[in-house]
Amino acid sequence: MPMSSKEVADLYAKHLTGNYGRAPLNIVRGAGSHVWDAEGRKYLDLLPGIGVNGLGHCPPRVVEALRKQLGEILHIHNNYMWESQALLAKELTAKTTGIDAPRAFFCNSGSEATEVSLKIARLWGKQHGGKWKFITLLDGFHGRTYGAISATGQPGLQKDIEPLLPGFTYVPINDAAALEKAFDAETVAFVAEPVQGEGGINSCTREYLQAARAICDKHGALLLYDEVQCGMGRTGDYFAYQTLGAPAPDVLWLAKALGGGFPIGGMIAKGSVAECLVPGTHGSTFGGNHLACVAARAVIATIDADKLLPRAKTAGARLRSGLRALQERFPKKVKAARGVGLMAALELTIPAADVVARCREAGLLINGTHQTVLRFLPAMTISDAEIDEGLAILGKVLGEV
Ligand SMILES: Cc1ncc(COP(=O)(O)O)c(C=O)c1O
Repeated sequence: MPMSSKEVADLYAKHLTGNYGRAPLNIVRGAGSHVWDAEGRKYLDLLPGIGVNGLGHCPPRVVEALRKQLGEILHIHNNYMWESQALLAKELTAKTTGIDAPRAFFCNSGSEATEVSLKIARLWGKQHGGKWKFITLLDGFHGRTYGAISATGQPGLQKDIEPLLPGFTYVPINDAAALEKAFDAETVAFVAEPVQGEGGINSCTREYLQAARAICDKHGALLLYDEVQCGMGRTGDYFAYQTLGAPAPDVLWLAKALGGGFPIGGMIAKGSVAECLVPGTHGSTFGGNHLACVAARAVIATIDADKLLPRAKTAGARLRSGLRALQERFPKKVKAARGVGLMAALELTIPAADVVARCREAGLLINGTHQTVLRFLPAMTISDAEIDEGLAILGKVLGEV
């Protein structure tokens, strides 16, 4: 018998730090787009793992690959080699387009993937006239470690932990003139999420990223994409820059959905930048170990075998049209419906927190970001019926608040 949700909540209150706004549910099981709590209550999860469970909970190929690996070897450090890491690098880099001679590095999380990407840019900058400064987007999010939070253009997340890493300037999204103005002779890279996740599902336009590519080239700087939330199929292509028809970056990084629920982050850099990572410049004890790599390979195999990229597009279109219908139904409470593929948002005129809590009580899991934005990152395996069920619950809740 699992402990009750109340018993677990009491233990959390006594023994864990309070840095998450946690719902008092002891989640004991997950399958596809559903999870169950200790009381046996079933929830429809339209935000599985905030983008981690891109194939839903417990995707069979990933579970099977991990089970098999558990009987062989769990971990060996990165001073040796193993087949799954080599094959994962080969398979993942093959999914990029327009990145010359790409090479991969593996770590354990999105923040770590941001860190290695910032470091590789500065290593490259040292060899290119001592460039070291970054330009990133306001409302972007790149993680919680010091480099990553310094790159994150959200003063509210930075103010109590200053001083930050020096050398970061923030510019508004989709404003090429502001970007050009922010460059100077020491700028080493411009960093963007092609589709911002934590910022409230704001997409860069193709034209903006085209302009960014041209500005970076003109100034001899690198273009960096953080695809931690928007990558790995979520937008209907392996990478969001492909869905947007935007130019390829020099460096991109990902995490979240890469391991299908198992922690892994990765960075892919074009060959001439990747060669800056020589022995002694960077490392990660756990990064890309056997378990992480077999899980990620199973994710790629599932996306390809089950044709989940086109499915993400059709499922995303259904979700967006349902959200637009809710906007029409509740014009006083809903300001906007937007999204790309299976990244969607409903911007409210009222606080999101109350709607999120009521949805949970009604059996639907979503979250709020930026105070008034409801965020949806459903699994690529979600069915039409599950999307409709989620929209129906949300419609009922919006009618009541
Ligand atoms: C775009 C982006 N970058 C980086 C991160 C940080 O990832 P992690 O929480 O795995 O460190 C996140 C997490 O939400 C993210 O959305």
